[in-house]
Amino acid sequence: MKASASVVAASVLLAVMATTSCSAATGVQFMKVLPQPGSGQTEAIILRNVGSEPVDLTGWSIVDKSKRAMNSFWFGGDSATMAPQPVKWCSNWTSIEPDQEFTLRPFNRDRFSASFDPCGFRFSLGFDGQLELRNADKQPVDIVSWTKAKDGMAIYRMGSKFIPFMEDSDMKSSIKAAPVLSIFAKALHSTNILDKYLKEGASIKIDKDSWMAKHLARKGYEKTYYKGPWTVFAPSNEAFLEFMKEMGWMGMTLTEDELLAMPELEDILLYHIVMGQEWSSGIKNATGVLSMKDGAEVAVFHGKNGEFLVHDDCVDRPSPDNYGCEMQAEWKKCNEDWVQDDGLFSGRTLGYCERSCNRCTCEGDQCGRASVYDIPASNGVLHVIDKVLYPAPVYEKPAAQWRSKAEMEAEMNGGSAGNLKGFLNGQQ
Ligand SMILES: *[C@@H]1O[C@H](CO)[C@@H](O)[C@H](O)[C@H]1NC(C)=O
Ligand SMILES: *[C@@H]1O[C@H](CO)[C@@H](O)[C@H](O)[C@H]1NC(C)=O
Repeated sequence: MKASASVVAASVLLAVMATTSCSAATGVQFMKVLPQPGSGQTEAIILRNVGSEPVDLTGWSIVDKSKRAMNSFWFGGDSATMAPQPVKWCSNWTSIEPDQEFTLRPFNRDRFSASFDPCGFRFSLGFDGQLELRNADKQPVDIVSWTKAKDGMAIYRMGSKFIPFMEDSDMKSSIKAAPVLSIFAKALHSTNILDKYLKEGASIKIDKDSWMAKHLARKGYEKTYYKGPWTVFAPSNEAFLEFMKEMGWMGMTLTEDELLAMPELEDILLYHIVMGQEWSSGIKNATGVLSMKDGAEVAVFHGKNGEFLVHDDCVDRPSPDNYGCEMQAEWKKCNEDWVQDDGLFSGRTLGYCERSCNRCTCEGDQCGRASVYDIPASNGVLHVIDKVLYPAPVYEKPAAQWRSKAEMEAEMNGGSAGNLKGFLNGQQ
């Protein structure tokens, strides 16, 4: 029931994405503007090449349209005279590769300043503003505007719109302040997760018999509490509306009150909260990151065109034995019958170790996509996604024979690599 409903939901989303990527084919766009820096920040304009070809920006300009002077920044130009004449030290701005981002900062000729930038723009962004990106024929290709910018508030592109996010606060305030995350914020508030986990300084206890503790031990973290940082995959309001439609009964959409009353709401929300500060570029393709839903992994993928994707049904658990799936993959056990058991013992049609054995993909509707990502917070990082993730069922308790990394190493150094094929015996 859930699966068929989500196919419908995803095709709607795909249609939306397709329209966005059509306009994206023009190449270079504004991705973000930080007009009113908070403490420790500098003004910034970030461009990105979202097309598939490199773009030569020589002769392109950014025009500040909100002020009467209409100051411009010329690419490949001399920022001192603001004329479109190439100068050697700024020529590095002129070609932008697909997926590449340029961060432009204010002009600063003080060689001894930390923000020295002879290639910067010579206007100030401020409280209200409007910037136009023009190509070499002086035709506008993109425009971004904002009003009433607060300190530390950045304007991010989200599809065809620009949405403000706070950048210099903690995760709690950042989520609460984001207009596109209001349903998520309400849900986190109603389950007390905002205060218990995401507030600066919050500390949570880790049950030593939990999967979470076992996973952490394997990564070398032995403490019984955790204080952040966090990575939050935050479903947008649109994603929640789709989810409420999908979860509704007989074509009825859940109301917000019904959503907040769902018994599994807390588990669903905790699955969106991941340990560590995971920036999009720092996570390798097909990596599992540890969520606060009993340590259930969220699998992160990178698409062919640079998309940042999350999969909620690509699991390495139950793992076939106490060595865990990554080890099985390393030992090249992925093709053995007992790992590919067609769901006989694993209960999963793809068998054990779906992620580590590379059996999942993001084709079709299976993954959520981050529409805005890498929004910094004092205690973590926020990625906005277009789908509510639903944690796959996993075993409640770790198997009794589970070994820590140190124990495994000791065992291997001792010459006995364990009885790999005998996992069924071990399991019984
Ligand atoms: C270009 O060079 C300037 C000055 O050295 C530097 O501040 C800026 O970051 C460079 N830009 C890129 C895209 O590498
Ligand atoms: C990431 O991994 C998946 C499957 O493991 C693969 O289909 C996809 O092409 C990979 N992405 C990139 C950018 O290589």
